[in-house]
Amino acid sequence: MHAVAIFPGSRKVDLVDVPEPKISSDDQVKVRMLEVGICGTDREISRFEYGTPPADSDFLVMGHEGLGEVAEVGPAVADLKPGDLVVPLVRYPCPHERCHPCRVNRQDFCVTGDFRERGIKELHGFMCSFITEQEQYLVKLPSELRDVGVLTEPLTIAEKAFAEVSQIYERLPWMPEKGRDDPIKKKMGELNAVVVGAGPMGLLGAMRLRLAGYSTFLYSLEPDESVNARIAREVECHYVSAKAAEFPDLTRIVGHIDLVYEASGSSAVSFGLLKYLGKNGIFILTGVPPLKKPIPIDADRIMRNMVLDNQLAFGTVNAGRADHEKAIRSLGRLMERWPEATRSIVTKRHPLEATCDLLVKRPPGIKQVVKVG
Ligand code: BGC
Ligand code: ZN
Repeated sequence: MHAVAIFPGSRKVDLVDVPEPKISSDDQVKVRMLEVGICGTDREISRFEYGTPPADSDFLVMGHEGLGEVAEVGPAVADLKPGDLVVPLVRYPCPHERCHPCRVNRQDFCVTGDFRERGIKELHGFMCSFITEQEQYLVKLPSELRDVGVLTEPLTIAEKAFAEVSQIYERLPWMPEKGRDDPIKKKMGELNAVVVGAGPMGLLGAMRLRLAGYSTFLYSLEPDESVNARIAREVECHYVSAKAAEFPDLTRIVGHIDLVYEASGSSAVSFGLLKYLGKNGIFILTGVPPLKKPIPIDADRIMRNMVLDNQLAFGTVNAGRADHEKAIRSLGRLMERWPEATRSIVTKRHPLEATCDLLVKRPPGIKQVVKVG
């Protein structure tokens, strides 16, 4: 079967012929891959700036934002059957006994760095017709979400971040709690969130914040007439083009910034905006910037604010199985509320044969998806 791969030795991105995998243990599932999303990480890997092939291979099969259909199950598979739609997890635990996160299946918090990731680090990815996978690394997706299931993996990043935000809010007893209508508590709509970057990660983050009830502002370079801005408005976000508004203007438009969800990967923008975070505010970093020369930041101001205003900034990567299950529920709610906007995050579906070009060049639009099946 055909697969899309990078060859770091010869610096090529190419199609490769690989044998169709067979179920080799009782708890394995054979999955027919349907769709795979392309993200910034894939483009970085295709520029040979990130990513590592498996130890015994000179190439790495690409793809980590997967959607597949169960083709066959081993005798010990309990909850999946042929025809079920599944989203595979990206990260595998490291082997070290001392890594507590990996030992409790929270490899997204791995402390040794020896985790492996499908299509990224030492494990082949999903850009091929079939994969085999243990049941524990597959999350079932309801069939009515077939159209948008490929967005699950990028949405898990937001889902994990917001699970952490709920824990952080426990320090503020007047903050809203899920499923509770307490008049003394602040209402979600009174909380202002700013999302930086209107790519797929930013749009999905903004949509997730809208589901939670935040008054949400999307701040990004695209002009007001762009599709990105239109989608933002469709999901009841305020769109603020960074072309027309600098940070002080943004602060005037938003008012008190309670939360920032950074999805642009720009350190200049992130540390620039950190200075404008409100009291008791939370700043979430999800973008991974390429390593460049150090930049000046207003460090005293930032540090003063962080201390005097009880601010908290954290970074987040990857996601656990529970975050995947929650992301799938959120995707269902997004489809009930804004089906068209949710679908339009996927700009175009391309055949596997066109993928090498897609990885190297960057067509305009939001999320490019490879149709494998
Ligand atoms: C993926 C994550 C992964 C991270 C770092 C991201 O693009 O969505 O699952 O952990 O890259 O490799
Ligand atoms: Zn990704």
